[in-house]
Amino acid sequence: MARSSDMKNNQTPEQEDAHAGTAAADTHTRRPLRSYVIRSGRQTVAQQEAIEKYWSRYVIEDHLTPLDAQTLFGRDAPLVLEIGFGMGDSLAEMALANPDKDYIGIEVHRAGVGKLINYIENGNITNLRMYCFDAVEILANCIPDGSLDLVQIFFPDPWHKKKHQKRRLIQTPFVLGLMRKLKPGGRIHLATDWEHYAEQMMEVLSGIDGLTNTAGEGKYAQNTGRPETKFERRGNRLGHGVWDLMFAMEAA
Ligand SMILES: C[S@@+](CC[C@H](N)C(=O)[O-])C[C@H]1O[C@@H](n2cnc3c(N)ncnc32)[C@H](O)[C@@H]1O
Repeated sequence: MARSSDMKNNQTPEQEDAHAGTAAADTHTRRPLRSYVIRSGRQTVAQQEAIEKYWSRYVIEDHLTPLDAQTLFGRDAPLVLEIGFGMGDSLAEMALANPDKDYIGIEVHRAGVGKLINYIENGNITNLRMYCFDAVEILANCIPDGSLDLVQIFFPDPWHKKKHQKRRLIQTPFVLGLMRKLKPGGRIHLATDWEHYAEQMMEVLSGIDGLTNTAGEGKYAQNTGRPETKFERRGNRLGHGVWDLMFAMEAA
């Protein structure tokens, strides 16, 4: 049992170890800093059953081998990657609405993975699979360079407090890594309900050579056509704003 003196932010050192991550290293401990904290919330019975019955059908368990999307989906179609799909509602909706595209989701939260498995199974969705693992590692190990048409990251954890902002996903090294995964002309679509994070996103993406803001310099994207996400609905109830950014890679 950890002593309270060992605990930071109500987490045991073991939890800190499991959560501290990859965007940057913690300068005191040299541990990498992760962009997420595993939530301990329980899964519903339906989510648990979905995980038990269908995990191997829809969740890609190999976190080390490059993904062969053509073999996985049995066709060659535009490939969309969503990082941090949460409970998966909007990702399932997009996959259903766009049968001509294939979708890969990444999420560390098992309840969300269970929920998305249920959407796939109940909706007969054939163009969507997922990883339940840290997106930073999946990008590095499994997503082939030049393979994606679109990367979407909707409402990434905002890490409000200044001392936690180094955990934010959208930082220059991470975006450079994303760009390597895109095809020429491929796009990055971000959204946030936290204005300070929107400004950081705009600064990071606008500062990278080879990326163009499709809405015009310094402008946020309007009417992108994406479905509202669960996190966004909660923000709307609280009166939060929403900022979308859509940047494209230069075509070759
Ligand atoms: C604030 S929630 C938003 C969820 C969803 N996009 C929505 O709008 O409803 C951010 C999600 O990103 C996930 N996440 C954060 N960092 C991640 C990472 N490195 N790899 C995979 N998932 C991550 C978290 O577990 C969390 O579910």
